[in-house]
Amino acid sequence: MAFINFTKDHLIGIKEIDNQHKSIYKTVNHLYNIQHNNKAEVIEIFQTLLEQLKTHFETEENFMKENKIVQFISHKLEHDRAFIKYSSYFKKYKKGKVDLDPDILLSLKNWLNNHFEKKDSKLADLAKNT
Ligand SMILES: [Fe+2]
Ligand SMILES: [Fe+2]
Repeated sequence: MAFINFTKDHLIGIKEIDNQHKSIYKTVNHLYNIQHNNKAEVIEIFQTLLEQLKTHFETEENFMKENKIVQFISHKLEHDRAFIKYSSYFKKYKKGKVDLDPDILLSLKNWLNNHFEKKDSKLADLAKNT
């Protein structure tokens, strides 16, 4: 069984966003599977994940701006907080200050699922109603 599951319930009907979610979930599983491999590999995949998240958050934020969705601010705040959390952890890990804590992957998994349920899943409907 995968660490984090992407199912059809994760599809919101906005193709670019759906594809990004799918890729992010795939990379999280990849990172989970190789977490005990050598550090260079972990760094590479973690870096890819952060880049995917950055692009994805920008895509959603642009979508909200274009559709004048008023929940933009609270939604973006969740993105910013998560990005700061995981990118600062990554910096510490790269410098050798911390080991890769399994809890960080678990927290990321929970964040993705909660954020999806509370925020992302509503994007298409919010766009329709503006
Ligand atoms: Fe989001
Ligand atoms: Fe998202």
